[in-house]
Amino acid sequence: MTPATLVQPQVKLTQHLIDGQWCDSADGKTLETFNPATAEMIANVAAGDRADIDKAVAAARRAFDSGPWSKMSARDRGKLLYRLADLIAENADELAALEVLNNGKPISEVKGADVPLTIETFRYYAGWADKVTGDTIPVDSTFGNFLCYTRREPVGVCGQIIPWNFPLLMAAWKLGPALACGNTVILKPAEQTPLTALRLGELALEAGFPPGVLNVVSGFGETAGDALVRHPDVEKIAFTGEYKTAQIIMKNAADTLKRISFELGGKSPAVVFADADMDLAVRGAMTGIFFNQGEVCCAGSRIFVEESAHDEFVERFAAAANNHRLGDPFDPNTRQGAQVSKEQLDKVLRYIDIGKREDKATCVAGGSQHGDTGWFVKPTIFADVTNDMRIAQEEIFGPVASVIKFREINEVIREANTTMYGLAAAVWTRDISKAFAVANGVRAGIVWVNCYNTFDPAAPFGGYKFSGHGRENGKGVLDMYTETKTVWVNLD
Ligand code: NAI
Ligand code: MG
Repeated sequence: MTPATLVQPQVKLTQHLIDGQWCDSADGKTLETFNPATAEMIANVAAGDRADIDKAVAAARRAFDSGPWSKMSARDRGKLLYRLADLIAENADELAALEVLNNGKPISEVKGADVPLTIETFRYYAGWADKVTGDTIPVDSTFGNFLCYTRREPVGVCGQIIPWNFPLLMAAWKLGPALACGNTVILKPAEQTPLTALRLGELALEAGFPPGVLNVVSGFGETAGDALVRHPDVEKIAFTGEYKTAQIIMKNAADTLKRISFELGGKSPAVVFADADMDLAVRGAMTGIFFNQGEVCCAGSRIFVEESAHDEFVERFAAAANNHRLGDPFDPNTRQGAQVSKEQLDKVLRYIDIGKREDKATCVAGGSQHGDTGWFVKPTIFADVTNDMRIAQEEIFGPVASVIKFREINEVIREANTTMYGLAAAVWTRDISKAFAVANGVRAGIVWVNCYNTFDPAAPFGGYKFSGHGRENGKGVLDMYTETKTVWVNLD
């Protein structure tokens, strides 16, 4: 195996991108960013605060109100987004290596999912740019003769706050629709993973986006993020992360009555009926919980298995988990890399400990840290879990699955819905009526039938209940980045 330290890409960008210029923080502060596979520091990156956010918002405001962006045709905006997608494709290997270095996820996944989906997301929204149209409305003529029509106009300056689990892809999900609709943006990447967002900012400049249209300010949530949320000249906040952070954001955004959209966590149920194709179900359960080290908002972390198939499923699932290749994320054969930070490692290990201390649950795979370098956790499975246990109710955000036994369909739908979250759900069965009963019965934004973790920029993604507000991807997002203006023209 190649040691991760030997394959490190060069880190060139460590400053904020504001108004088309690279700059340090006004107070000179920086934050340390790490390689999760080795726990070594990679670089000091600018840590922004209120003064940097003020400067970035002023630049975004100018670009929106009076810059070349405000006069650019929608079609030309689309061309810039296509150009950005092409530049990402041309620099795919470098971006992939940077993402692996900073996040700890395996290179096979970055090249198979993160980077291609990032490119496709920009292309998808590039295509929308000149297709966001209004309507002509057939209004009543009792009081006169009118032409009534609607225009779809950009919301304005948008603050976009993203997490560390898919740094590049989350930036694309946010930027694609915002820029296609003609908004300007201040993107705040997570403090753990600023590197690919900064490189993306550089590629956007190279693509020809005018200064101030896309600003990238790195920094902590409590400082840079908070300043963005409270800023009176920011019209919208789009956020992905923990629901508790969303609650803080909602309160702090209230004074300036911002538009908000949230993509939050989950505790997604995956239901396996005894008649399912067991190979497919085990593979699906593996992907559902161990993809991206379990650092996935829609991770299938509660696996409900019908009683008669329970023991066979658990045995096969545990065997697959024990064979899962864990290690150097730069090795193309690695299937699971490192957790993003020491903090996340500790959180996951704490939950494993809670699971072990719950009387009834049995740990049938993993159950500990892997190795003593970096922040790796063995793929872990608890069997004999009940839905009321903490490991079945709280988001662990790591490679830890809970398997719960069930007897009949109404019971499992009820239990699946007994959670504060409602992001995703899955069902494995050969019986079409059971598949539809679960698909219709679960209160979740995405349902996978005999599959898991399939994504497409055209397919809406987001959750019910504590899993969020609004949707990402698909054409619905365009509503969240536009205002509708109704124009009445007196024709008499
Ligand atoms: P977080 O929600 O605190 O961080 C996400 C983003 O929000 C980061 O960019 C952060 O700097 C920013 N942020 C934090 N506090 C803020 C504030 N007061 N105002 C404005 N922005 C703020 O998530 P964190 O602390 O990194 O992870 C904690 C847990 O959250 C994880 O263990 C996981 O359970 C969950 N999470 C869920 C994600 C998802 O995709 N749904 C992504 C990341 C974390
Ligand atoms: Mg936090």
